[in-house]
Parts: sequence; structure tokens; C-alpha cells
Amino acid sequence: MQFSSSTLLTLALTLVKSTAATPTQFIKRDDTFGVKSCPSDSPLSCSTSSSSDSCCFESPGGVLLQTQFWDYDPATGPSDAFTLHGLWPDLCDGSYKQYCDDSNQIHSAESVLNNFGESELLSKMQEVWKDYKGNDDDLWTHEFNKHGTCLSTIKPSCYTSDYKDNQDAVDYYKKAVELYESLPTYKWLTEAGITPSDSETYTSQQIQDALSQNFGQDVYIKCDKNNGLQEVWYFHHLKGNALTGEYVPIEPLNDSKCPDSGVYFYPKNS
Ligand SMILES: *[C@@H]1O[C@H](CO)[C@@H](O)[C@H](O)[C@H]1NC(C)=O
Repeated sequence: MQFSSSTLLTLALTLVKSTAATPTQFIKRDDTFGVKSCPSDSPLSCSTSSSSDSCCFESPGGVLLQTQFWDYDPATGPSDAFTLHGLWPDLCDGSYKQYCDDSNQIHSAESVLNNFGESELLSKMQEVWKDYKGNDDDLWTHEFNKHGTCLSTIKPSCYTSDYKDNQDAVDYYKKAVELYESLPTYKWLTEAGITPSDSETYTSQQIQDALSQNFGQDVYIKCDKNNGLQEVWYFHHLKGNALTGEYVPIEPLNDSKCPDSGVYFYPKNS
């Protein structure tokens, strides 16, 4: 392998920077969220119809979906990553509620994040949480208002006394990014030899195998009118609180919308 002198210089500078400054790791697993803690034997969402502690039992939206998009035309986001679309609480039967709390809506995710000094989170979102029309802030705001407000376990009442207005929204974004980073779809596909191509095609099973080998369950995949892979949804049940609890992979509750064979994974530059 050969490096140009400018690559080496960048590398050297990066090393100097990363030893001198704070760690570059963006969101840490031990990130402390301000919610009250939950007992370790909290029931798994959807395993029972009710629980006495609504902050430790996600309900009625006990199915947590982390949805990712591959928008290649126009190309959206990094050419080597699916983009983050949302974190959705679906009902246990796969249907869902939306806009669950009008009093808790926000007008702009970006200004909320700026008010909280969350510049690192914001720049990460600007990189990977993309709207295909370019209205990223509208997408983020929409996702919290439509889906985030339906999470029972991040209601303001689930926080300790130092809750600040809109902290639930900030935490929703933080958790969505954290989950997304733990589900690197592009990496998992390419490691299995499923790489972007205008001519190569794959079977749905090959895609499922590549992802389930890492995730532990099948996922929902959706293709567009050109038989191009466009969406991947990861389904979970949740033990405890949506911020601090455990996400347990489950089978998808929706049938995938891709042909059995002839599935394209188009490059983002096309
Ligand atoms: C997924 O399945 C549920 C339950 O059948 C249904 O309500 C929902 O509309 C489906 N979603 C999609 C995108 O097909």
C-alpha cells in the first residue's frame, strides 16, 4: 500500500490531535441519560399487556424499529453508508400510532440541539441522518414529533428532577444515532461480498443472510421500482427504558418488498 505525503501528513496531524484533545469516539455506550433507572428484571416489551412502571416498560409501542435508507438517485449521504431515517415505536402487532403528544412537539430539532450545546451530535446527524430532498432539520423534527412522542419510557415524567424542556427530544436523537451506529448495514453487506454495482444482482436471501448473521434476526428490506435495495428496517423488543434499556432483535413484523432474485445494490454516484 502506498501513501501520498499529504495522506501521511493528515494521518500524523490526526494522531497528534486525537492524543491531545478529547477522544474522537462520538457517542459512548455509557452515555448517561437523565432518566430514572429501571430494575434489571423489567419485563420485555410486548411480553405482557401491562406493567406498573410505564417508564420501564415501553407501551403500547413495544416494537422498536431502527430504519435506514439507501437513496442513490439523487445520491444522499456518504457513498459508503446507509442513512439513518428514524427510530419508531410500533405497536406489538406491527401497526403504529403517530403524533402522540401535541404538547411535547418541537419546531426545530436543530435549534433544540443547539440550545443544549449538542454540536457533536448535530454534526453527526448532518452527516448521516439525511433527507433525500435536503431538508434534514425538517426530517429530524418530523421524526421526533411523529414517532418520538409515542415513546412512553422517555416522557418528561420518566426523568429525574433536573429534566430540562425538550431533553426527551435530544435524547431521542442521541439514542437513534447510537442504535444506527451499532447497525452498520453497508459494512455488513460489503463484508459478505454484496457491494454497490450497476450490473451485479443479488438474491433477497443473500442480503438477509449477510445482515442476519450480524443482527441475529432477519430484517425488513424494501426495493424501489428498479429492483434497487432502498430500505432496511431492524426490529426489536425492548427491556426497560428506551434510552438505557436493552434492545433485543426480533423477526420483522412486515413482509419484505423485494423480489427473490435480481436485487440491485446501486452505487450512490449513479
Ligand atoms: C406493517 O404491518 C402492519 C401490521 O400488519 C401494518 O399495519 C403496517 O401498515 C405495515 N407497514 C408497511 C409499511 O407495510
